[in-house]
This record gives sequence, C-alpha cells and structure tokens, in this order.
Amino acid sequence: MEQNPHRLSVAPMMDWTDRHCRVFHRMMTRRAMLYTEMVTAAAILHGPRPRLLDYSAVEHPVALQLGGSVPSELAQAVRIARDWGYDEINLNVGCPSDRVQSGCFGAVLMERPGLVADCVAAMIAESPVPVTVKCRIGVDDQIPEEVLPGFLEQVSRAGVRHFIIHARKAWLQGLSPKENREIPPLDYPLVLRMKREFPHLTICINGGVASLSAAKSMLDQGLDGVMIGRAAYHDPAATLIGADALWGDAFAPDAHQVVQGMRPYIAAHLESGGRLHQITRHMLGLFTGRPGARGWRRVLSEGATRNAAGLDLLDHALSQVQAAAA
Ligand SMILES: Cc1cc2nc3c(=O)[nH]c(=O)nc-3n(C[C@H](O)[C@H](O)[C@H](O)COP(=O)(O)O)c2cc1C
Repeated sequence: MEQNPHRLSVAPMMDWTDRHCRVFHRMMTRRAMLYTEMVTAAAILHGPRPRLLDYSAVEHPVALQLGGSVPSELAQAVRIARDWGYDEINLNVGCPSDRVQSGCFGAVLMERPGLVADCVAAMIAESPVPVTVKCRIGVDDQIPEEVLPGFLEQVSRAGVRHFIIHARKAWLQGLSPKENREIPPLDYPLVLRMKREFPHLTICINGGVASLSAAKSMLDQGLDGVMIGRAAYHDPAATLIGADALWGDAFAPDAHQVVQGMRPYIAAHLESGGRLHQITRHMLGLFTGRPGARGWRRVLSEGATRNAAGLDLLDHALSQVQAAAA
C-alpha cells in the first residue's frame, strides 16, 4: 500500500487551517498531510507557545509551517517546536503579503536562494523530522524557467528533499495577497519539468487544483503529491472524502458521519469554555452543492456565535439538510 503522506495535502492557510479546521479535515481523510497556518519563528520565540503550537493527536500526520529568514531564529523555533512532535517542518517561501515582505520572508526569499539554503540548513540541524519548503515559481520579473531550477538546486544541496511548488509567480508590487493567488498565471508544465529534472526530489504541486480527479491526474503525470488549498476549505467533502483511495484505503465517511465524528471534539471544546463558532465556521462548506446546503450554512453562521450555542444548534443545522433531502 502507498505510504507517502504527501500524495494529497491540505495547504497552510492563515486564519483558516487552524487546529479546529484540521480536526474537521481529519474526519474526512486519515491519510492526507495537513499543514498548520504559518507561524513566524519570532512568534514562537517570544509569543504564547501553547496557543501557537498545540494541536490534537488525531491531526497526525501534521506539518508545522514556519515563516522567517533569520537562520538562528528558525533553528531556535524548530528546537522549541520539537517537543510538540510535528511530523514535518515546512518553510514558507511563497507568501506575498506586505507584512511578510517587510520582515523579509515569504515569497521575497525566491530572490535569495542562498539565504533560504542557510535557513533550511540551520533548521535541519535541529529537526528530527523532514524540513520541507513551499515556494513559488518565481517573483516579479524573475524568469521562472531560469530561477526555479537554480533555487531547487541550491536549497536541495542544503538538505531539503521535498518541495511544494505553488505553480505561479508572486508579484510583490501592486497585487494583494488574494490577487496573488488568482492573477499570475499557473504554469503546471514547469513544475512537471522540475520533477523530471530533479527526479530524486519529492515535488508536490499546488495552485488551482479544484477536485480530487484533477489531483489524481497530476499524480498520474508523475508528480509526487498535490496540495489543495481553497477547494479543500470551501468544498471539503468533494476534495477530501474518498481521497484515501489514493493510498488504497477505503475510508470514506459520508458528510453526516463527519458531523457525528465532530461531536465529541466540539463537546470537549465547549466544555473547556470555547465557542461553537470557532469550530463550525470551518464546517460551513460541508454540504456545498447538496440540497440543504444553504440552510446548514445559514443556521450555523447566524447562531453559532451566540454565547449559549451548543450541539443542539448543530443538530438543528443538520435537520435542514435532512429536510431538504427528504
Ligand atoms: C486564506 C488563505 C491563507 C493562506 N495562508 C498561507 C500561509 O499561511 N502559508 C502559505 O504558505 N500559504 C498560504 N496560503 C496559500 C495557500 O497555501 C495556497 O498556496 C494557495 O491558496 C494556492 O492553492 P489553491 O489554489 O489550492 O488554493 C493561503 C491561502 C489562503 C486562501
């Protein structure tokens, strides 16, 4: 049976793929690799570590994504995070937001492969688990065909064996982060070519993959893995339920079973003083494209922020779907 957990992964998405979201995704796939949101090395050094790093045991396999560009800081962050037992540490070399640029990390590091190599070497020295890199194909006026092979060469020489390539450039001036995920054109053939040029590296593709069948066709073309972001968030059932077949695993609960599977987790969260909305906000897309989807979404988005909202609201939302299907 296929073991590579990266055949399918859910992308790091700030404010979206928090620990609650990852538990929810895990109810649909036992196999896919799940990534945290980006956590900066500086935040780990100086911030509230349990809040930044805690996760639930069910989330495995789970990767911690770090942001930063100071090798010693990244090394220290990896050393600290070691106690949390993540399965992989990933460095963000793809995020184009202004805030990230000003700290000189994220996509702007595509221009500084030597610095990225220093960063990952420092991280690898502290990490008991693989250190991976998520990057773009280039930034601004770089020519991807020219810079991407050099980037992979230099960073892999520092010890990284596994890259996730968002198959579009980031334009660091003039586009918002959102536009930078939509406007620069996707170049899948270039990523495929990188796999052929660097057959010893694990190359995963990311960007615009909207369905499980699209992911499968990328794997069939020889890529090692596919990372899905927005589609997994907005239509998790279509992208994640049944994904385990990629590993020859028959696990494929239906959406109702997924909701039932979340109940104990939600109950424990409420019990410890958490809000329903903190979890259900990630579940709004579960019935996308199915009868009752609108009622499900409406009941949860209107009711779940209320102080007393509990599992009965979840049942009420589910009854909208059941009524629509009847
Ligand atoms: C809301 C949001 C937040 C994101 N935050 C991160 C992040 O923290 N780190 C990162 O590497 N990429 C981040 N991304 C980019 C995604 O990981 C992914 O590369 C991008 O959405 C393209 O994949 P997709 O077309 O499958 O969504 C974010 C994307 C979205 C939509």
